[in-house]
Amino acid sequence: MRPPIPHAITSFVAATLLSVSVPVSAAENTRFERGSEVYNQQCAACHQAQGQGIPGSFPPQKNHTAQMYNATDGIGGRRYLGHVLQYGLTGPIKVDGTSYNGNMPAWGGALTNQQMADVLNYVLTAFGNEKRVAGEFQPYTPEEIEAIAGKDLSGKDVYQLRQTLLGQSPEQSRTKATPVRSAPELSLEKSIRDPLYVAVQNSGIVKVLPSKQAWPGVAGAHYNALSPDGSRLMVSGFKTGNVYVLNTASGEVMASVPIGEVAQGVKISPDGRYGLAVAPTQGDVAVIDMNTLELVRKIPVGKVPHNLVYSADGTLAYVTLQGEGALAVVDMRALEKQRQIPTPGLKTPHNIDISANGQRLWLRDFTGNVGVLDLASETMLKTFKVGSGHGGIDVVPGEQYVATGAISASVVTIIDSESLKIVKNVDVGVGPHGVRASRDGQFIYASVTADNHIAVIDTQSLEVVRREPVGGQFPFWLAVPGNP
Ligand code: HEC
Repeated sequence: MRPPIPHAITSFVAATLLSVSVPVSAAENTRFERGSEVYNQQCAACHQAQGQGIPGSFPPQKNHTAQMYNATDGIGGRRYLGHVLQYGLTGPIKVDGTSYNGNMPAWGGALTNQQMADVLNYVLTAFGNEKRVAGEFQPYTPEEIEAIAGKDLSGKDVYQLRQTLLGQSPEQSRTKATPVRSAPELSLEKSIRDPLYVAVQNSGIVKVLPSKQAWPGVAGAHYNALSPDGSRLMVSGFKTGNVYVLNTASGEVMASVPIGEVAQGVKISPDGRYGLAVAPTQGDVAVIDMNTLELVRKIPVGKVPHNLVYSADGTLAYVTLQGEGALAVVDMRALEKQRQIPTPGLKTPHNIDISANGQRLWLRDFTGNVGVLDLASETMLKTFKVGSGHGGIDVVPGEQYVATGAISASVVTIIDSESLKIVKNVDVGVGPHGVRASRDGQFIYASVTADNHIAVIDTQSLEVVRREPVGGQFPFWLAVPGNP
């Protein structure tokens, strides 16, 4: 047996190294841990585990956030960072000579004030920032973050604050340069014929178009999915960890089922019997009986599951494992995980759809790639670079196209599903995430999170024919009848 000494020495050395600078109080320690948990769950996929970012796509936190914190013009760096968390950031920036022209989603409404304070405290006391913050760092409090909330600002407004902060001209916003469109828009009734259900996350509502009803009672409305007959709408609550079931005839919330800390992807089985909902932090898929509206089981599936799709015959569910670079295959009869399929080339598979013949899975990752996987051979046929950040993916009925969003960019990428080539990046506004086509495949709808509208793309012309405001903040996902 190996003597235990070497291990004891290493941990002693590690403990000593950690405590050389300043003695850390227990309260600071737990705050640091809470912040690191939020960072790893919500920020690391883009800004990376060590805060190093991805050059050109996601700016670093490492050595950089302290520089922003120290800036003194305008509202000052400390309040600026609170604004970035609450309202996001949209516009062209330069960090260490590298340009970014992205969109950071708003976290107000999605994270609690405590979580936003914790994560800022973490970032500013890690990744080299701890050595660069000017003066003695006073941790953010939830009250301080709360005082920044409720101002109806967008990521573009925060961009203007950033320009002032750095003493730069506020003119260069890319969005201001966008030419005014002259083409007349298609009417609302012509562009949205079936009801379109939009989960509006930061307003906690489901917005129904074209009728414009707003259904309340769904805090943190994140993902949603319809039952096959269209009578029930399942909605996940990002903020509450609940899954809600709504009656689509009235908008009434029929049930609210707690499934974990956070609730993400939801889908109702093709036979209408079960609703599956993903609890990423627990690594579970919750199974809800759609008749009794009760939680019947939690299936452990793996690290950071995100969303799912059913096989063509409904006997299996494929669950993306964002934390494992793989899919979990769930047997829908046994309600058990059967096995795992790796997704080479995609480290963080996020959203998923399936071709009508059930032979190909289309996968969208968290950082800006799409992959198409052949199920018979379980090989990745091809991967594509698309807009940056995460987004939805949809095999458009009729199968000519596959469309994907990009929350950190402003395009919906259209891929030809036969030739496996990118046909077009359609400019839809800042931060498109949810993407679903109408059941006849004529229109592709995208929920544009930062500009708060639904963009309608005509699949004949591949042009945007309408931008319909949702009257709420952060439209994240959408459900349409006939295209689950
Ligand atoms: C989906 C990807 C994504 C996620 C997730 C994300 N960010 Fe960002 N973040 C970005 C992008 C892109 C930018 C740059 C936006 C731009 O170019 O205008 C940014 C910018 C920032 C900035 C401003 C930097 C500056 O120079 O002004 C801060 C601070 C920040 N993020 C912190 C966070 C924190 C903390 C989290 C987790 C709660 C987080 N981000 C999650 C994509 C992301």
